Amino acid sequence: MDKAVRRFRAPGRVNLIGEHTDYNGGLVLPAAIEFAAYVEASGRGDRRLAVRSENYSETREFDLDDAEPRAQGHWSDYVRGVAVTLERAGRRITGADLRIRSDVPMGAGLSSSAAIEVATALALLGAPMKTAMDRTTLAQLCQRAENEFVGVRCGIMDPFIACHARAGQALMLDCRTLEHRFVTLPRGVKLAIANTMVRHSLAAGEYNRRRAECEEGAAYFGRPLLDVTLGDLERDGRGLSETVYRRCRHVITENARVTAAVAALEHGDMPAFGELMGQSHRSLRDDFEVSCAELDALVEIAAHVPGVYGSRMTGGGFGGCTISLVQEEQVEAFREAARRNAVVYVSGAAEGAGEL
Ligand code: GLA
Repeated sequence: MDKAVRRFRAPGRVNLIGEHTDYNGGLVLPAAIEFAAYVEASGRGDRRLAVRSENYSETREFDLDDAEPRAQGHWSDYVRGVAVTLERAGRRITGADLRIRSDVPMGAGLSSSAAIEVATALALLGAPMKTAMDRTTLAQLCQRAENEFVGVRCGIMDPFIACHARAGQALMLDCRTLEHRFVTLPRGVKLAIANTMVRHSLAAGEYNRRRAECEEGAAYFGRPLLDVTLGDLERDGRGLSETVYRRCRHVITENARVTAAVAALEHGDMPAFGELMGQSHRSLRDDFEVSCAELDALVEIAAHVPGVYGSRMTGGGFGGCTISLVQEEQVEAFREAARRNAVVYVSGAAEGAGEL
């Protein structure tokens, strides 16, 4: 990397439908949002990384030749994890001074960590992503950094959308094959994101537990859950515990909802899309049990606002945000209705990561 300062940006995301399907190899439909992480980078002559966070007003330094780098439960883990993962993947990087600033709300389920990871990876590689292949590889490296270095077993959805997003479009991703296609959001429809401002402390532990329960379901059937139909589950699933049965039912029905939602969007049928969002929320609440009272209350409030097509919790759950699709001219009514329960952000679907 040369000494000149270069600037990179990677967006947060909101998932429109397809929740807790990514790590089961299923379908998701996220869009990038107009909140992003920004990294300013300049090269150094040595093998050190000096990372400044404007959000935390703090600087950390690392040696890229450190033989046993470890996560420290600190914001800088995301940055260091990316550096370590790039090197382990054989992409030798040079020392750099990095300045990071993010306006993606943190801990709100809007993928603030993937935004930082992707922007950091671009900065450290110092090269624009030229092809979709580059972007996919980069997303996989960032997921690996989070899985192996930071120690969170998240799926591919968040870094993938940060890398690939296109303005005005949502992206349907098959998390097993990584095949994807873009779906244009209708003009005049806004993403209204309502942040409960709560993050229940069980979130991380419960996330891993849900993953384990899904794995138990897949092991029972001897194949990935996405190859199990609802009919298979109803016919052969009697030997599962009642809890794992419901977890499987969520994953299988949610995956089908993504296919139906994309078809609805492609036909411009927003009411049908909204109805599927409602079904998704109820399935996450009752079968997957990752919602909470604050999220349920917001979904209920949104249901009574004119111009709201649909609303559901988004992201991992146990707090964080709801996503509602709202007609542009009703956005203020939505804000007003949700005001007492949430901080509301309104966004269009934004462009993916790149150099500024
Ligand atoms: C978190 C993870 C994603 C995905 C969602 C649930 O946001 O980071 O990979 O599993 O939860 O859909």
